Amino acid sequence: MSKKIKILIGTMTGNAQLVAQELELRFDGEGIEVETVDMDRLTPEVFESNYIHLICTSTYGQGDVPDNARAFIEAIDESRPDLRSIRYGVIALGDLTYSETYCFGGKRFDTLLNECGAVRIGDILLHDASSGTMPEEEAADWSEEWLASCEDIWCQK
Ligand SMILES: Cc1cc2nc3c(=O)[nH]c(=O)nc-3n(C[C@H](O)[C@H](O)[C@H](O)COP(=O)(O)O)c2cc1C
Repeated sequence: MSKKIKILIGTMTGNAQLVAQELELRFDGEGIEVETVDMDRLTPEVFESNYIHLICTSTYGQGDVPDNARAFIEAIDESRPDLRSIRYGVIALGDLTYSETYCFGGKRFDTLLNECGAVRIGDILLHDASSGTMPEEEAADWSEEWLASCEDIWCQK
């Protein structure tokens, strides 16, 4: 099976975009076909079973997804598509200063996709902006194990 990853970006000030750009370069270097899309105007039809999806989103307000992801997550929530053939990973950007809603943007996607039958690959990466670490560097480290799990899936098919 061809190796395809679709990175879906939810961002307000660009951190998630930087993470996606870094990973796109890395995945591309591994011979993987990568598509990167902003969540603006996305619909649930973006999920295709021949891709592995990587949700890369920050958190705003009181544990909300960023503005550009709001219509998309609402559309999934309302239509509740059958996503049993979908595999995905999650990179959740947040800030531990917001301890009550830490990384809720990514966690909300994870819960919803799971409720629709999709299966997560690997652990969620939680990035804390108050830690002083660069999200793209943490994501690059995290992606090595995540990619190994993706390879297992591609081998099975
Ligand atoms: C106004 C505001 C509200 C935020 N609310 C939360 C929050 O509720 N929970 C959280 O974990 N992070 C919160 N954050 C932190 C951001 O999610 C974090 O800085 C992230 O790296 C931003 O990524 P982006 O540039 O891709 O939007 C908030 C940041 C701002 C500026």
